[in-house]
Amino acid sequence: MVKRGAFIVIEGLDRSGKSTQTSLLRANLEAAGIPTELIKFPDRTTAIGQMIDSYLKSQSDLDDHVIHLLFSANRWELASTIEKLLTSGTTVICDRYAFSGIAFSASKGLPYEWCRAPDVSLPAPDLALFLQITPEAAKARGGYGEERYEREEMQRSVGEIFHRIGAEIASEGVRWVAVDAGHERDQVEEDIWMFVKPLAQGVEGPIRRLWP
Ligand code: TMP
Ligand code: MG
Repeated sequence: MVKRGAFIVIEGLDRSGKSTQTSLLRANLEAAGIPTELIKFPDRTTAIGQMIDSYLKSQSDLDDHVIHLLFSANRWELASTIEKLLTSGTTVICDRYAFSGIAFSASKGLPYEWCRAPDVSLPAPDLALFLQITPEAAKARGGYGEERYEREEMQRSVGEIFHRIGAEIASEGVRWVAVDAGHERDQVEEDIWMFVKPLAQGVEGPIRRLWP
């Protein structure tokens, strides 16, 4: 059976080290000879992405429902690209995905089920890695407070909703693994690699859909 690429999602609070770790993971996959693409959500380069960027920088205001739907639309813009890459045997890493969509919007008080709805039938990851860090440790890393949502109370409630999502999707069959992101960079890199390596040679079976 021909294998497709693996779909790996990395999630976490702001300042949990996602960008660093997704880059390191890409380098490790490439060093192992695995064709790899790294996608970051929000993708701020599209027209929708520019609206999101302006909202996050507080240059514009939007109703909470509207910004939620824009984040989801921003994933749909890239959904067919992700599918093509996976089918062609490329491993795809996403720095944030639909789980961030729910965690941040539900933290603002939007109903959890409503937040899940627009992402129904997006490609589902084969593995979601949650970089776990306390809001205090994240704040201490600096660069915090530049964008909307980068506040300790908000991050605390986002972390709680991420836990709910993790428990729920694990029971639905998506692999959700929490990685301790409070460790040294090299240790976190090694922990992530341990989970991704078994998938690096490709995955059998069709691409699954959210929510399984
Ligand atoms: P970034 O810091 O990873 O670029 O993400 C920007 C912010 O957007 C971050 O605080 C998380 C938030 N976010 C959402 O609220 N909904 C989403 O669907 C995504 C992908 C991110
Ligand atoms: Mg950020």
